[in-house]
Amino acid sequence: MKALTEFEKLSWFDGETIKPYVFVREENRIKGPGTSFDVPWFEANPVYKNPLLTSNVDFANQILNMEAKAFSASQMEMPRWVFYDCAIMPGFVAGFAIKADKASPELRAMTQAKTEAEWIPLSLFIIIPTMGEGEWVAHNLCSSNSLVPKGQGLYGLGFLTKAFGLWYANIETCCGMTQWKSPAVKLHTHYGDFEVLTAYTPVHSYAKTLTYRVRTNSAEWGRFFTKEPSPAFSERYQLAGFQVDPTDESSLKAFQAKIEQKQGPFYLDSNQIRNQDLDAPLDVFIPK
Ligand SMILES: CC(C)(COP(=O)(O)OP(=O)(O)OC[C@H]1O[C@@H](n2cnc3c(N)ncnc32)[C@H](O)[C@@H]1OP(=O)(O)O)[C@@H](O)C(=O)NCCC(=O)NCCS
Repeated sequence: MKALTEFEKLSWFDGETIKPYVFVREENRIKGPGTSFDVPWFEANPVYKNPLLTSNVDFANQILNMEAKAFSASQMEMPRWVFYDCAIMPGFVAGFAIKADKASPELRAMTQAKTEAEWIPLSLFIIIPTMGEGEWVAHNLCSSNSLVPKGQGLYGLGFLTKAFGLWYANIETCCGMTQWKSPAVKLHTHYGDFEVLTAYTPVHSYAKTLTYRVRTNSAEWGRFFTKEPSPAFSERYQLAGFQVDPTDESSLKAFQAKIEQKQGPFYLDSNQIRNQDLDAPLDVFIPK
């Protein structure tokens, strides 16, 4: 696999000024980070911070301030207690951070960093282990790119944030939830074969939520940047014979009915999603 700097527009990740961070209580630290994936992207030692120490509350505040701004448009800001009870205690938070003395005043304002802050978080990914063997659930992803003026972001920040979290914890299977038409769908589909578990989810606050399961395959991760189709995908899957229209509730319900009738498992093609508008209809696939 290529080093990150070989991909266009990723030279911002120098491993010095900008580094991955892991906000994790001591007991949840992963032993042997990154040993399951052949990905030469994250060799720099991450910045570790322990959320159980009062001295790190400013870092937590910065993460939460950024998150609240990133999710304000969708009205899905994470309550502080959810951050603690459902993220910090069972799992961990990871992302990228910039050295405070190199951060622009705009970035410091975004997280409301204190003068003495050493690192300013630029993104966050929260992942929690589930009761399924080797299975985790991605609970939150956000990137400061959604908050800075166009042209001033760090290309690939959101994608690399999740890639780092999966890499760090050697995650084989990652479930998650996202809303149809969210730009995050373009990211989530690129970590491995993307199975749709629910297409219409009335038990969620937003029924037009898509639940997915990915068997992580780091050999495919670079395709997010090259936008090339995956030969492995076309070898393994064929068209299911119908499409799903992300803009049409009846189409989501019809897809959900097929899932519940056990006509699947059903998969989406990451390359199609990457290269078309978010509201365009998507082909659905089944294993060959
Ligand atoms: C969704 C999100 C995480 C994406 O992160 P990001 O750092 O902006 O994205 P990356 O730089 O990794 O990816 C870049 C690609 O995604 C595309 N992208 C990012 N935001 C987009 C948007 N709002 N609309 C369309 N495409 C978008 C970029 O155009 C780029 O594609 P290109 O190579 O074709 O130009 C970020 O926008 C965000 O935090 N949004 C608010 C919170 C949220 O919705 N989180 C997802 C919850 S499931």
